[in-house]
Amino acid sequence: MRRALAAAVILLLLIPLVGAYQVPERGVVYQIMVDRFYDGNQSNNEPFYDPTHTNYRLYWGGDIEGLTEKLDYIASLGVSMIWVSPLNDNINRMAHGSAPYHGYWTRDYKRIEEHFGTWKDFLKLVEEARKRGICIVVDYVPNHSNPSTDGEFGALYDNGTKITDYFEDTKNATVNPITGIREDIYHHNGNIFTWSGIPLKYANLYGLADFNQLNPWVDSYLTEGAMLFANSGACGFRIDAVKHMELGWLETFYLRLYSERPLLIYGEYYSLSPERSDDLYELYRYSNVSPVLNIPIRADIVKTFGFVGSLETLSRTLEDYYSRFLYPNKQLNFLDSHDLIRFLNGARREDTVERFHMALALTMTLPGIPVIYYGDESYLVSKDGKGDPYNRPMMAFNNTTEAARIIRTLAELRKTNDALAFGDFKTLYANYSVWAFERTFGAHRLLVVMNKGSPAELSINIDWPDGTYVDVLYGAEMVVEKGKATVELPRNSFYVFHIEREQGEPLIGSLTPYTARPGQEILIAGAGFGSGGRVTIGGVEARVLSWNSTEILVEVPAINTGKAWLDVVVETGGKASNVAKLRYYSGNDVPALISLNASSVNLSRANLWIKGNLSELAEPRPLLRSSTGYYFTVAPLPKGAAFSVELYEGPYWGELRPLGVKLYGFVNSTVVVLREEPHATETAPTMPTTTIIHRPVGKNPLPYLLAALLLGAALIIWKKRG
Ligand code: NOJ
Ligand code: CA
Ligand code: CA
Repeated sequence: MRRALAAAVILLLLIPLVGAYQVPERGVVYQIMVDRFYDGNQSNNEPFYDPTHTNYRLYWGGDIEGLTEKLDYIASLGVSMIWVSPLNDNINRMAHGSAPYHGYWTRDYKRIEEHFGTWKDFLKLVEEARKRGICIVVDYVPNHSNPSTDGEFGALYDNGTKITDYFEDTKNATVNPITGIREDIYHHNGNIFTWSGIPLKYANLYGLADFNQLNPWVDSYLTEGAMLFANSGACGFRIDAVKHMELGWLETFYLRLYSERPLLIYGEYYSLSPERSDDLYELYRYSNVSPVLNIPIRADIVKTFGFVGSLETLSRTLEDYYSRFLYPNKQLNFLDSHDLIRFLNGARREDTVERFHMALALTMTLPGIPVIYYGDESYLVSKDGKGDPYNRPMMAFNNTTEAARIIRTLAELRKTNDALAFGDFKTLYANYSVWAFERTFGAHRLLVVMNKGSPAELSINIDWPDGTYVDVLYGAEMVVEKGKATVELPRNSFYVFHIEREQGEPLIGSLTPYTARPGQEILIAGAGFGSGGRVTIGGVEARVLSWNSTEILVEVPAINTGKAWLDVVVETGGKASNVAKLRYYSGNDVPALISLNASSVNLSRANLWIKGNLSELAEPRPLLRSSTGYYFTVAPLPKGAAFSVELYEGPYWGELRPLGVKLYGFVNSTVVVLREEPHATETAPTMPTTTIIHRPVGKNPLPYLLAALLLGAALIIWKKRG
């Protein structure tokens, strides 16, 4: 009997259930800076501790235990995900006059910072959060470790064993013949001086020791570190500084994390305007790295509500911004963050608080997952200053405010109204101070109306059934009669009207993640799925792992295709759903450096792109021009695959022109040389690479010397042949 019971329990644990994973779009994220939230254990506060909370550059005592203690408070806001600031072990010294209280100066990616707690504390946090319907999103920093010029000078540890530091690494560094980058564990290319091209990704960001993610040791180390969190139950990651890493490496890194479970992974691509960035285009449009924080539109929202600005202009800016994404509802909206001035610290108006409420409600009703920065619900500000580090004061707990009520109300509505989670975005009316937008997802609808100017009566055409609708925030009424909606709008009003009806036909709202390789699980969310049916991906039936009327979990089949995007369709009760697009990767992908000898094909053009016959290469990728005479890019490529690419020329954000040049490659190492002729697979020549596996400090160097000699010999032979 006991055995049978144990077997049943084990079986239950093995079968993935719908409801076991969060549908990110139906939730709200609460962002926390761990050190500044709540001190649950005073024994871990020293060193560099300031009990008076006046020196913003020291530790103030917050930790994982404190966060766990405050889970009921966080749950009371209706949020379902907590984004915690980086938890990894940080340097044990001050650098540039600051302690690493923020968590962005890692020294060991396998350990937890002792000021914050232990892995046991993290597991307990995940478990206690889970009991409250909340999951944990971890901030992870794979672009750099810590300052190269102060503190511990880039010291890096692998679960306690010292691997290197920036000086040591300089001695081992060599120039990569293809990229022209001096590298070993780190890049040694100075600081970022030009914010585009090679320096953007291969130089130090403000002096932070920049990882060479193409070094196989670094690749595994950073992946293993992230896996520790995924295996401990994290439901997602916020990836720091994605702008400064090779997209192709990030794609493989994300794929490996996604193979754990359907995670929410979003990146920080710091850009105040999408047009001005060199490679937002490929990040947003072509890859699996596109869920990002909506940094480019945040300033427009703050300006319009906290200072001056037209809602009509804002509506156009936002519509244009969201139209750039295939899945705008997977992007993340926020008003405040640890990097920017808090709205209430910046705006100087008599009605600042009312405008704050409006802006907060807007970020929670736009397309995208809302992020609430800790303390926004309690009007937390600093008296000592504005931006970093003053946007990180000690938390003040108060969930009885008007802001808390707005957050809670809209977070609860999001759980039941799929127009908030998956709806489209259509402006029905906008002028300088009045704006009405509608969002629709099947039988669920949402109408958001606001007025930041003199009292007005709004009358708009809308195809909602006749009746009186009650706004969810303040109980304001809107009458709809014969396709005309009328509503009174006092100054600084913000109303949300909604409809939730039964969805008759299957309708897909989202895929989590919307990128996959064979064998990976994806969560399909939407409505009208009934109790069973079938799912096809690229025309091939997928194995269904679980099914209910709003969520389906499937395993992605292997599909023989060269396409980037595959159609996902749900069939139930004799009806087929809309088509959702899945970014497909053929599997077995390694981050490969694809290179092309510029002189060998006689090319001198500035902006070259490749597009090829594998799913991974089906969207164009820009090539960088190295100082050593190569064009190169990094792409996830299936080991053992032979492929061809065509060359294109053209600007970012512009039309690409085919050059009529076809080249061939074969993936038998992580360095792939493109050639004019296809070659026999097994004998395909490989380029030597300087990205050698690094040794932990203090081990016998003989095998590595031998390996280096062999590589050197290969290099000479290759040079002679070339
Ligand atoms: C962006 C983070 O949000 C910021 O706080 C940090 O200092 C930098 N990346 C460097 O890691
Ligand atoms: Ca503490
Ligand atoms: Ca970098």
